[in-house]
Amino acid sequence: MPRFAYVNGRYRPHAEAAVHIEDRGYQFADGVYEVVPVDDGALVDEDPHLDRLGRSLGALEIPWPLSRANLALIGRELVRRNGIRDGLIYIQVTRGVAPRDHGFPAKARPSLVMTTRRRRPLPAHLFDVGAKVITIPDIRWRRCDIKSIGLLPNVLGKEAARRAGAFEAWQVDDAGFITEGTSTNAWIVDAAGRLVTRDPGAAILSGVTRRALLALVAGQGITVEERPFSLAEARAAREAFLTSSTSLVMPVTAIDGAPVGSGRPGPVATALRQLYAAHVDAEAGRAP
Ligand SMILES: Cc1ncc(COP(=O)(O)O)c(C=O)c1O
Repeated sequence: MPRFAYVNGRYRPHAEAAVHIEDRGYQFADGVYEVVPVDDGALVDEDPHLDRLGRSLGALEIPWPLSRANLALIGRELVRRNGIRDGLIYIQVTRGVAPRDHGFPAKARPSLVMTTRRRRPLPAHLFDVGAKVITIPDIRWRRCDIKSIGLLPNVLGKEAARRAGAFEAWQVDDAGFITEGTSTNAWIVDAAGRLVTRDPGAAILSGVTRRALLALVAGQGITVEERPFSLAEARAAREAFLTSSTSLVMPVTAIDGAPVGSGRPGPVATALRQLYAAHVDAEAGRAP
């Protein structure tokens, strides 16, 4: 089956899809992106993902390349053309093509690229034994709430994790507090049994999975604290886990080689994983 990408108004064969060399995304990372999961052919949490795209665009003063409704339509059409049952839609919007000059160009139309990808299954054992994370200094800029395509620190962090045989790198700010992973949000269950995750300021990307999980947890009788937690607190935690649209709720069982709690996925992470799976089932239209 041929694979298509959508580039600035046209569906193109994926292998031939291209943007201009003076696209500001290519030259300055002057753009934003969004990833919408697809499950059983349905878009999962479409609205919060498009809301976040709108916030990222607004923060950089990049206009929507076309209406939000049309963008969603194109996403669905790509999913259909590419025969995606389980996977994701990648949406990238840059400020557009203009002669290289740092300031905003007087005239540029935003560039829109959309692609799809099939789900890459995570190693089955990961959810059973839990993921290992390493910690690294957070060297990113101070607007991590914007889903910018400028991801070099994240790229270097993920590569460091891979080389260490870990799944993710948790980034630690100058004050010794964990911000988030390179492509995931970080959580702990502290010694008192409270669920703790960083508050959604400029230090982290407000994950759609993170927000969905917080909404699901409300009313479950679990105390939740959205606040910075230190590396020392994470090391002493009963449990830890991470969340993202592609990792869902993933238990973390080792930090920098030392076990978290029992060193096995804990009861809270396991229960929240099931709670979130039920949410995805509902989004995908699967009966409970
Ligand atoms: C830096 C960062 N934090 C957190 C997340 C998790 O966000 P979401 O739950 O919306 O996938 C991502 C996802 O790409 C990310 O890049």
